[in-house]
Formats: sequence, C-alpha cells, structure tokens
Amino acid sequence: MHAHLLPLLSLLPLLPHALAAATDTRSPTSSVPGKAFSRFVTIWLENTDYAKADGDPSLTWLSSRGIKLSNYFAVTHPSEPNYVAAVGGDYFGINNDDANTLPANVSCIADLLDDKGISWGSYQEDMPYSGFTGAEYRNQVTKANAYVRKHNPLVMFESVAGDPERLALIKNLTWFGKDLEAKTLPQWMFITPNMTSDGHDSSVTVAGSWTRAFLEPLLDNEYFMNDTLILVTFDENHSYTTQNRVLGILLGGAVPANLVGTTDSNYYDHYSEIATVEANWGLSTLGRFDVGANVFAFVANATSDTIRAPANLDSIYLNESYPGIFNDKKWGPQPAPNTELEQNGRKVLQAIKDEWEDDQDQTYYTGSLEVPSSANPPTYG
Ligand SMILES: *[C@@H]1O[C@H](CO)[C@@H](O)[C@H](O)[C@H]1NC(C)=O
Ligand SMILES: *[C@@H]1O[C@H](CO)[C@@H](O)[C@H](O)[C@H]1NC(C)=O
Ligand SMILES: *[C@@H]1O[C@H](CO)[C@@H](O)[C@H](O)[C@H]1NC(C)=O
Ligand SMILES: *[C@@H]1O[C@H](CO)[C@@H](O)[C@H](O)[C@H]1NC(C)=O
Ligand SMILES: *[C@@H]1O[C@H](CO)[C@@H](O)[C@H](O)[C@H]1NC(C)=O
Ligand SMILES: *[C@@H]1O[C@H](CO)[C@@H](O)[C@H](O)[C@H]1NC(C)=O
Ligand SMILES: *[C@@H]1O[C@H](CO)[C@@H](O)[C@H](O)[C@H]1NC(C)=O
Repeated sequence: MHAHLLPLLSLLPLLPHALAAATDTRSPTSSVPGKAFSRFVTIWLENTDYAKADGDPSLTWLSSRGIKLSNYFAVTHPSEPNYVAAVGGDYFGINNDDANTLPANVSCIADLLDDKGISWGSYQEDMPYSGFTGAEYRNQVTKANAYVRKHNPLVMFESVAGDPERLALIKNLTWFGKDLEAKTLPQWMFITPNMTSDGHDSSVTVAGSWTRAFLEPLLDNEYFMNDTLILVTFDENHSYTTQNRVLGILLGGAVPANLVGTTDSNYYDHYSEIATVEANWGLSTLGRFDVGANVFAFVANATSDTIRAPANLDSIYLNESYPGIFNDKKWGPQPAPNTELEQNGRKVLQAIKDEWEDDQDQTYYTGSLEVPSSANPPTYG
C-alpha cells in the first residue's frame, strides 16, 4: 500500500463503499518553457454579476495586483456547461448540471498538454479522494454541499475519468499545499473551491475573501510565482436575462510589471483560456471554439496573435444553451471538430484529425471569434 493512502483509512467509516475504488495520487512535473508564462493556474468562482464582483473589496485588491479583464464572457447558463467549455472548447448543448459524461472521442485540453509533455492537474476543495467520480461529497458534519462534480471540468470527460493515470491528477485541494511544499505543482492547473468558498452557497464577499486568503501568501512565494499566469474568474453571471459578462483577473509573475493595475477591455470568453494556453506553448488545437477565441492581450503580444473585436459587443448575450447531444430540451447531433482550422500556425491535433476527418459534414466550428448561442444556434456542415 502507498504511504499516502494511510491517512484515508481513518475516513473509512465516513465514506461509502467507494474507498475500494480509491485511485492513486500522482504529481508529475515538467518544465516546458512558454512564450509568455511557464505555469497556468485558474481559480473559478460562482454565479456573480460583473459589477458585483468588481465591487468586492478582496477582488478589487487582487485586481490591483494584476490586470482586470472588463469584457470577459461566460458562454451559457447554468454552471456545468461553462466548466466543460473551458477545457473542451464547446459545451455540446449542455443546459443542465446533470452527471453528463463527454464520450471518449471528445478531446480536451489534457490531450493537447500531454502531446507536448506539459504536466497538468486539478485541485478540488473537499474532494474525498483523488479521482473521485461521484456527483457530490458533502460536509460530513453539517451535510452542507461541499465538493460537486459539476464544477470539476476534467472529470466529466471519459478520456480522463476512464484512465486511472489521469484520474490520479485530480485531487483534493489539500494536495495543493503538499505539491507546493514539494515543488511538484503541474504546469497547468484548475482550482475549484468548495460550494461555500466559491460563493455558490454563500456570497461574493465569501468567495472574494477566500480567494484573497488563498492567493495573497502565494504572491510572495518565489517558486509558485515564477513565470506563472493566474486567472481568477467566475463560471457565469447571476442574471440570466442580461449579458453573461463576468469578472476576470490576471495575476502572477508572468504579468509584465508595466501592466499591473491596468484594465484590459478586449473581448474574451471561456474559450480564451484554452486559446491562451495553446498560443503560449505552441500547442495543437481542438478544432472547436478554442481556435477563434482571443488570446489574452499581453500573451498575444509575445505570440504574435491578433486580437479581434466582435462586430457588436452589445448584442452578445450567451445566456442560454444551443441544441446539442446533452441538451435535455433541444437535441442536436455530436459535432465533429473542424480538422481544417488553423490559427497563427496552430493546427488541429493529429489524433483528432485521424478520428474525425471523415465526418466534416457534421462540423459547425468556423474559427470565428463569435460563438453561437440559443439565439444564433450553430449550423452544421
Ligand atoms: C463518438 O463516440 C460516441 C459515443 O460512443 C459515438 O456515438 C460516436 O459515433 C463516435 N463518433 C465517432 C466519429 O467516432
Ligand atoms: C480534503 O480537503 C479538505 C479541505 O479542502 C480537508 O478538510 C479534507 O480532510 C480532505 N480530505 C482528504 C481525504 O484528504
Ligand atoms: C469549504 O471550505 C472552507 C475552507 O476553505 C470551510 O470553512 C467550509 O466549511 C467548507 N464548506 C463546507 C460546506 O464544508
Ligand atoms: C524561473 O523559471 C524559469 C523558467 O521559466 C527558470 O529558468 C528559472 O530558473 C526559475 N527561477 C527560479 C528562481 O525558480
Ligand atoms: C437571454 O437574454 C435575452 C435578452 O435579454 C432574453 O430575451 C432571454 O429570455 C434570455 N434567456 C434566458 C434563458 O434568460
Ligand atoms: C450581468 O452582466 C452584464 C454585463 O456586464 C451586466 O450588464 C449586468 O448588469 C449583469 N447582471 C446584473 C444583474 O448586474
Ligand atoms: C505589447 O507590446 C508593446 C511593445 O512592446 C507594449 O508597448 C505594449 O504595452 C504591449 N501590450 C500589452 C497588452 O502587453
């Protein structure tokens, strides 16, 4: 038995029979240099309108240490599809928070990172053990919501959940502290606070102060900060009938000193997270909405990517899902990635081309900046 499993034994009476399925925990590292940063960290908070987040004192403090993104959009409602989009380059019509699983032939950012040997992982607060695939894990004392699968993007992909080596990279947030101490943090990581800490069952005040308390000591940690880009953002806006704009804050040692305390008002959305990582490390692409998304401006400066503006910012709502395989109101066929798309020299991952190039009549990705919504659903072929 691995030594690190021993502490879990004390939890045996608290856990369902699931402990038998407990996965190993892994913390592989790598040091692949990027053009603008060599580590990417994102922390996702919940359900807050732009103005409210921007007015929170803790988040304002964080903005003052980095770059505030004032035109960053979520891509639909409710939560789950936004998380899926940020790692998958589409949300496949998801209009719910159900236990959806993306089939094994749907690639995600993990495939692009693995292709270049870039280590990745996820830290999920209050996940009962590494690689847990259950829908939720509550606080065992108060029974309040704590960990939820719908906020854990990679575990919703069968290509991750079906592979024990990959599942072992999705760990409790307590492992963040251990990996920090041991200098075994991955180069790409997704951090999800629990349902209290992320504001879902509390308020933006709680989410803001949790995030400041988590990050403030790290901002002085040379190992953590060195060449690191941190994105703090929200899954979605609170008000369904308005534009789905959320706050984004870029922080970390990779942010150029002359940009600290500034605001970047270029148009971004959750697909920009993938596009920025692809541009930075010269990754292949997923052939989905990642291809057309804007790269964060200071990174685009280093990668020679062009920042574009939407034709009409005021008409962008992104407040309701279009039809798709997981839409429980309006079904649509599974789209094929567009294997011909290219952006600033970045091409679709060869393995994706091999799988999908004969299905191009079923694609709806055009490489444009503007993404579909229920009001403008995607057109196939
Ligand atoms: C992708 O996987 C799904 C689910 O297994 C299957 O229905 C679909 O035919 C597959 N598509 C391709 C092109 O392999
Ligand atoms: C998971 O993390 C929480 C805090 O995030 C901690 O209280 C709990 O003990 C951890 N559980 C395990 C099994 O490590
Ligand atoms: C979530 O984590 C925080 C610590 O970060 C803790 O105070 C809180 O009790 C946790 N929420 C639940 C429901 O367990
Ligand atoms: C910072 O990261 C760079 C690679 O991006 C590395 O060459 C350098 O040694 C690191 N410095 C410290 C102090 O860790
Ligand atoms: C999205 O916003 C439009 C414009 O305000 C509104 O007509 C529509 O009802 C909204 N959709 C939802 C699901 O609230
Ligand atoms: C949601 O974001 C939009 C765009 O910034 C903003 O106009 C709207 O006020 C937000 N919703 C609310 C209720 O503040
Ligand atoms: C891009 O680079 C130019 C020239 O080095 C610099 O003046 C500008 O501030 C940079 N912009 C951003 C957003 O990084």
